[in-house]
Amino acid sequence: MTTRKRPQELRSHRWFGVSDLRAFGHRSRLRQRGYDDADFSGKPVIGIINTWSDINFCHTHLRDRAEDVKRGVLQAGGFPTELPAMSLSEPFVKPSTMLYRNLLAMEAEELLRSHPIDGAVLMGGCDKTTPGLIMGAISMGLPSIYVPAGPMLRGNWHGQVLGSGSDAWKYWDEKRAGRITEQDWQEIESGIARSFGTCMVMGTAATMMAIAEALGLTLPGASSIPAADAGHPRMCAAAGRRIVDMVWDDLVPQKILTSAALDNAIRVHMAMGGSTNAIIHVVAMARRAGIKLGMNRFDEISREIPVLANVRPSGQFLMEDFFYAGGLRALMVQLKSLLELSCLTVTGRSIGENIAGAEVYKREVIHPLSDPVSREGATAVLTGNLAPRGCVMKPSAADKRLLRHRGKVIAFEDYNHMALEVERDDLDVTPDHIVVLKNGGPKGGPGMPEWGMLPIPKKLVKQGVRDMLRISDARMSGTSYGACILHVAPESFVGGPLAFVKTGDEIEVDVPTRRIHLHVADEEIARRRAAWKQPAPRYPRGYGALYSQHIGQADEGCDFDFLAPLGPIPEPEIH
Ligand code: FES
Repeated sequence: MTTRKRPQELRSHRWFGVSDLRAFGHRSRLRQRGYDDADFSGKPVIGIINTWSDINFCHTHLRDRAEDVKRGVLQAGGFPTELPAMSLSEPFVKPSTMLYRNLLAMEAEELLRSHPIDGAVLMGGCDKTTPGLIMGAISMGLPSIYVPAGPMLRGNWHGQVLGSGSDAWKYWDEKRAGRITEQDWQEIESGIARSFGTCMVMGTAATMMAIAEALGLTLPGASSIPAADAGHPRMCAAAGRRIVDMVWDDLVPQKILTSAALDNAIRVHMAMGGSTNAIIHVVAMARRAGIKLGMNRFDEISREIPVLANVRPSGQFLMEDFFYAGGLRALMVQLKSLLELSCLTVTGRSIGENIAGAEVYKREVIHPLSDPVSREGATAVLTGNLAPRGCVMKPSAADKRLLRHRGKVIAFEDYNHMALEVERDDLDVTPDHIVVLKNGGPKGGPGMPEWGMLPIPKKLVKQGVRDMLRISDARMSGTSYGACILHVAPESFVGGPLAFVKTGDEIEVDVPTRRIHLHVADEEIARRRAAWKQPAPRYPRGYGALYSQHIGQADEGCDFDFLAPLGPIPEPEIH
């Protein structure tokens, strides 16, 4: 049985509840806004960290949804206060939102620490906002509940369903091959993003929102609700009500995030056919919680769990269909025998209790374990002399002939050079070649941009080739697909073996045995290493310089070295 906190034990009591000059100042400022004792006295202060922004259309509705959260907080006897945080709008932030994930994590943590906050509602959804907010909340250690923005509605063009990202790549290649017109392309531009909400394929956003739910950090079913559905504001208000009780019960993230909960999340990730990006984020979140988690765990679980969600890019449908099919609770029921059902969640109940009674309503969207969408795992972690600390691939979204392949390399030192070369009609390339891009990693990108779905050379696209092996130390959007090997660690920019690959070398990839091998003699690799010079840091000053000095490699979750260690940080002095 949990002991409920008393009002004097609230963190905010130090700001508002004592009788001194500073508390007088704090209370007088609340009164400045028109609040009275009845509004705040002895009540949990709930910080609503909102990543709404005018330039993040995945989060357009979060401005209104914050009001729904506040409604719930007030109903439950809390005092809501909204704290805006950087939004990390995936389409617009360059060179990559990944450069700023840790900055959002720091901002979330320090917003909570520096203000009189007792509990947090975290509002995000667009790719890096989910891990950024959760990483910050874990490190701060206050009771926290995640409110996912939810996916946008299905796209539409000429009566065909369009999925964000995935169909942009697909029709771009059709346009390059001359199979659709400029007019078609413009119409697709207007139809592919029909409403507010996150990407509605199983990209990084949908994957990370599902992982947040599987970890027990959202209300049951929250991650599947489309942004435009009336159930979404109802979920927001319910989260507002729930966080108040979580504060009284001191239900902090450390009680929820266990190794078993992380395993549940990885199992769900695999069954969803989730984004490869999730590996980096889940490793980072685990490290913040003090739990050791290596990439090999993803590989182990991927061998056990087939893909069950028939959602693009591994499958056929979109997140709106997934919701109508029963949503994440129904998918988790399919996995029930493989999950640790006793894990605690933000509801105060177990994950098993949260999913009890959920049903699949559309078998073509959520498959049973006995008839999966794909037996190829959603993630394979390969190692070898080209990637001593690992690299990842999504076999379920790749052409099967490329899962065992040896081919000659075409190597590029930087993206711009590659982008020009692949458009050449006289490029010496065949479908069996392997395209290699260097300097796309955490330090090299910088920020490990989503460059990893390297473009297929135009000459091959015209011949009808739609997949070939591609290798880089970059990441790939979860909406992307193809035989792309990503996250090669250590990255080339710091002298990882990828730096020494040359055009004409041969690389062998064997996904079933999880092996990747550069067929160049050790002595020759050593000779190339000795001649190699590390490029200058990308940024001479500012956040970029701080980032470059402290960023970890992909297998470590790309967290800053000074953020990952555990240890108490003192509460701020109030004088
Ligand atoms: Fe925001 Fe894809 S652009 S989720």
